[in-house]
Amino acid sequence: MSDDALRRFFIETWGCQMNELDTQRMAGQLMQQGMLPTREPAEADLILLNSCSVREKAEQKVYSRLGSYRRFKQTRPGMMIGLCGCVAQEAGERALSRVQDLDFVLGPARVGELLDIVDQRRAGERVVATGFPEDRDYDIDSISRDGEYKGMVTIIEGCDKKCTFCIVPMTRGPERSRSMSDILGEVRHLLDYGFVEIELLGQTVNHWCEPDGSADFADLLDAVARLDGVERLRFVTSYPRDFTPRMVEQFARHSNICPYLHLPVQSGSDDVLKRMARGYTVAEYHELVSLLRQARPGIALSTDLIVGFPGETERDFQATLELAREIRFASVYAFKYSPRPGTAAPKLPDQVDPEVADRRLQAVFELQSEIQRDLNRQLVGEVFDVLVTGWGRRPGMVTGRTPCHRVVHLPLESTAERLPLGQLVPARVEHAYPHSLIANPV
Ligand code: SAH
Ligand code: F3S
Repeated sequence: MSDDALRRFFIETWGCQMNELDTQRMAGQLMQQGMLPTREPAEADLILLNSCSVREKAEQKVYSRLGSYRRFKQTRPGMMIGLCGCVAQEAGERALSRVQDLDFVLGPARVGELLDIVDQRRAGERVVATGFPEDRDYDIDSISRDGEYKGMVTIIEGCDKKCTFCIVPMTRGPERSRSMSDILGEVRHLLDYGFVEIELLGQTVNHWCEPDGSADFADLLDAVARLDGVERLRFVTSYPRDFTPRMVEQFARHSNICPYLHLPVQSGSDDVLKRMARGYTVAEYHELVSLLRQARPGIALSTDLIVGFPGETERDFQATLELAREIRFASVYAFKYSPRPGTAAPKLPDQVDPEVADRRLQAVFELQSEIQRDLNRQLVGEVFDVLVTGWGRRPGMVTGRTPCHRVVHLPLESTAERLPLGQLVPARVEHAYPHSLIANPV
């Protein structure tokens, strides 16, 4: 990028951690060119919308935002708007015809080409860069990790599963694992940078394997956990069927692997799981949970649930509540089923009435709130190392996370001018709410 007319950029991010990391990658490339971030879209010369298409609502949001950012073009001719992320991959050319003022479309597998695309736009071309090229630009030195408390490392991209509700295999492409030496190199780079928490990312993170087949995710966990300076290691998202006993063992072996695991179950009914093509039963899920709890007593589990999946009966739904009661998740991300283009589930019989699905969603939230209040109350009096993640709601307060990933608010008067972002502060839990804890530094 040569012209110095582009000075400020603004990126809005929706969706999963992979999008968060893609945003850091785009910001880094722009900052290497001397551009600076701004919090005001109205001031930006370049606006990037890093979108999510996993549910219809998320997709609608990005289009309505595009509509409202277009007006900046009237007062700032020359400013550019790019659609990035999963909606970009899915819509491609269609996005350009739908939104006249859109300058370019950049899919998630082409993030490394951002600067070229901007240059091409300058030369007059409205580029659609989507698809999944074999050779990818991935420059770890140009990732803007500033203002982050955890170092995220993609270890596997895309997804080869065919869950019948999910659009991700289409937007993120086929599964590709990075090599262990690349991954360890990036983790060491983050440790040199001062990060104490490392988060390994992938749509099915535990399906990682060395491209030549010589190592699996258990080996990778072992290798990363052994690196000096890794205080906290976490990874997301694990696919239940791919979790092996050797992976479970790593929780017992390495205390720096966080006592927390996100393990999406989606439903508590075998019939529904079958129609979702998840490839495991409720009994197998329970078995995995009990192995994990033996390996690491007190491990906090979180999950994803979909309610109102086609054919879900009241009985199926009650089975989901039953599963939530038995497992007692530390947190639950529950969603109403949303039909997505190109997936198999919209063609299934017995689509669920949206009002019924709404009611079921509320019932999950209510149950889960009670469970979380109880679980969190049991933590009162305990001391945790809290990783500081941001300012709190009131002056002098900061927010952070326990090793088990619970949100903690704590007063930190002494360092009030400077946020100790990314540092560990030991603190004792004083109060518990369903969604957060209040603690005092010790
Ligand atoms: N492996 C991915 C899953 C991506 S989708 C990951 O890294 O998280 C995240 C969650 O969104 C899924 O676990 C599922 O619960 C939910 N989801 C996906 N498609 C959905 C749909 N069509 N309707 C409602 N929820 C959906
Ligand atoms: Fe989606 Fe299933 Fe893959 S939820 S991301 S298709 S594991």
